[in-house]
Amino acid sequence: MKHSTLSLGLKPSDLCIVVNSPRSPLSSKSPSTRRRGRVFFQDVKIVSSSPDTLKNQARLCPDGVNGVYFLSGTQEDSFMGVFKPREEEAFGPSNPKDKVGILGYASPIKRGIIVGDSAMKEVAAYKMDHKGLARVPETASLELDGRYGSLQRFVNSKGCAEDYNPSLFSTKDVHAIGLLDLRLFNLDRHLGNILVNTEDYTLIPIDHGYCLPDFRDLADSYFDWSVWPQTWIPFSPQVKQYIGAIDIWDDAETLQRVGIRLPCIITYLLCTIFVKICVGKNYSLRAMVDLMQRSLKDPDSPSVFESIVFMTWESNPFDSEGSLLTDACLHEFVRTFEDAVIEYVQRLQ
Ligand SMILES: Nc1ncnc2c1ncn2[C@@H]1O[C@H](COP(=O)(O)OP(=O)(O)O)[C@@H](O)[C@H]1O
Ligand SMILES: [Mg+2]
Repeated sequence: MKHSTLSLGLKPSDLCIVVNSPRSPLSSKSPSTRRRGRVFFQDVKIVSSSPDTLKNQARLCPDGVNGVYFLSGTQEDSFMGVFKPREEEAFGPSNPKDKVGILGYASPIKRGIIVGDSAMKEVAAYKMDHKGLARVPETASLELDGRYGSLQRFVNSKGCAEDYNPSLFSTKDVHAIGLLDLRLFNLDRHLGNILVNTEDYTLIPIDHGYCLPDFRDLADSYFDWSVWPQTWIPFSPQVKQYIGAIDIWDDAETLQRVGIRLPCIITYLLCTIFVKICVGKNYSLRAMVDLMQRSLKDPDSPSVFESIVFMTWESNPFDSEGSLLTDACLHEFVRTFEDAVIEYVQRLQ
């Protein structure tokens, strides 16, 4: 086991992080051939703090329905991180905003989401943003004053994407965030969750607690960026190469290490395969959204993506909680889905 410390402005005496990377049964490769991801920060599992760090150095964010704390930085009036304790999520047992409930139950506000999973999803989104293409701020799980949650680097910004004309945003940023959202099936991509750097209008996506819903419940997405004109522009060769190079089984292993539930890892596998096939066939971001998101005019009908997932699931019944599931069964399910998507795309051509 290795030990490391966060580089977010807290003194090493404030936080001690234990890095822990257990071996995963989801691996498609032998241990010797498995690539190591970025080790620093994202493999953080537990942090212990000096007493009352949260009480003395944090400010509760007044907005939203979750317990979100801004942790003070080393300079006066600066923040270093954003801490979101698991128990204070909306409908968690200690929610400070009158939305109290029970961990492990289905979220009353987001379909396919379990209360208490958001902290792990925040970490997962950071880890799936390979090479920081979409600029998800560094995020790790930690335990602070006995509370487990996610810690994200605080980003200085003057507002969110809602406050600006979208024509100010680069195509590269819109494509990067769009592709990440589709791969994670993010259920909470409203424009308040995209911060804007006012110097150069670069975009910084935050708040990924409601990504990766259960693969059997993929009805609830709406991506606010989907109406932006950049979504029609073809992807650059660099972006195509980036998507083509993603190793879904490596990622599945990483997600399992983070603590993501199997039905949510399956969502990642299916979404990323779908995106890879569409990008390979030169689909635009907009065209992909139209296949993956329900139509606003007909919200009761499943999307094309949902329909293919459902048909594949029906033809490959298994216990998705994992008790009967073997690696071979999962690989077969994913391969059947991939074949069905390829067939669908070929039929359209
Ligand atoms: N990494 C960050 N850097 C700066 N501000 C942040 C960051 N994360 C969250 N915030 C601020 O805190 C607010 C609430 O955080 P968010 O993660 O969106 O939680 P919620 O789930 O309550 O919407 C955001 O709207 C944003 O203003
Ligand atoms: Mg938010």
